[in-house]
Amino acid sequence: MKKSKIAGVGMYVPKNVFTNNDLTKYMDTNDEWIQERTGIKERRYADRIGETTTTMGVEAAKIAIERAGITAQDIDFIIFATLCPDYYFPGCGVLLQRAMQMKEIGALDIRNQCSGFVYALSVADQFIKTGMYKNILVVGSEKHSFGLDFSTRGRNVSVIFGDGAGAVVLQPTEDSNRCILSTHLHSNGTNAEILAMYNPGTHANHWLKEQTLADFDEAELGETFMSHSMIEKAQLFPFMDGPTVFKVAIDKFPAVIIEALEANNLQASAISLLVPHQANLRISQFVQKKLNLTDNQVKNNIQKYGNTTAASIPIALCEAWEEGRVKEGDLICLASFGSGFTWASALLRW
Ligand code: UT7
Repeated sequence: MKKSKIAGVGMYVPKNVFTNNDLTKYMDTNDEWIQERTGIKERRYADRIGETTTTMGVEAAKIAIERAGITAQDIDFIIFATLCPDYYFPGCGVLLQRAMQMKEIGALDIRNQCSGFVYALSVADQFIKTGMYKNILVVGSEKHSFGLDFSTRGRNVSVIFGDGAGAVVLQPTEDSNRCILSTHLHSNGTNAEILAMYNPGTHANHWLKEQTLADFDEAELGETFMSHSMIEKAQLFPFMDGPTVFKVAIDKFPAVIIEALEANNLQASAISLLVPHQANLRISQFVQKKLNLTDNQVKNNIQKYGNTTAASIPIALCEAWEEGRVKEGDLICLASFGSGFTWASALLRW
């Protein structure tokens, strides 16, 4: 059976740097709190009008495609992961197809938030292995800054997220030593509402009335999925119970990495580079300690870009590759955890 390999990787981050001190102009927060709790020093924000989730994805894709030694015309399938699409529908995949003037190929959108990229990679891997496609473009891109609550009310969420995009091109290979070795996907929806953006949505309070998280106007919710009161009560912004998410994350991250290692009869010491989803520097440090990894074995760049959700792994992978930290023959582990909850890992030999 064929295997798949990453033939090219690219990233794009907007020029606009937003420091922790910049955030203090809008909300009651401070550089010390943000750095101590998250490791973040600054993040990038997209141009409000000139850039979208799709346009950033296109920029990252162009680089990945060029590095794969092909053209946009050679791509035969698109997988686009994001939680902040340009439109409620259609998804960003078709917008990218249009913007890059690609052939009339399939475009699939993935909605698995922080795990979106690893889920997308896993889907692409299966399509390559079955021989269905030969050049799959996998993109993770987020324009969080457009939809965050920049008042003090939203500070526990808003200070974390940043904008950016990453992309890879997957191709078939006969070399079973230089390929994606395995991928591992999980979900548990028990806590779906503790890291979520409820509106606009069709729930009509069906699930939320079981929760105690938000004070929704039931009558209004039954009538429409967007209302004045939702805007007034800031219910169009993401919600996160950070400490609960944190506790589950530090359990699932190591578990899904160990699962990938065990599936391939490998030990953590064999990992050349762990590229974790950049959720929180403290989470990555906990995972590093738990698996007894050295600093050289873990890629962190949340300090510069914040948490870019589906884009964080391809951005970190691309940056590590550009720094020479991803070399031929290296064992690379990608791992993620986030809203849903969903968590996932991929182990690959570069
Ligand atoms: O990527 C997807 C998955 N997401 C994650 O993995 C995120 C996991 N969670 C986290 O990373 C952390 O929980 C946060 C960074 C979100 C929050 O850190 P924390 O150490 O868990 O803080 P907390 O939410 O328990 O809040 C502690 C205090 C509170 O004040 P009181 O109640 O102790 O007086 C908050 O109101 O910090 C306050 N606070 C802030 N203060 C200054 C919350 N946000 C801020 C802020 N600036 N931005």
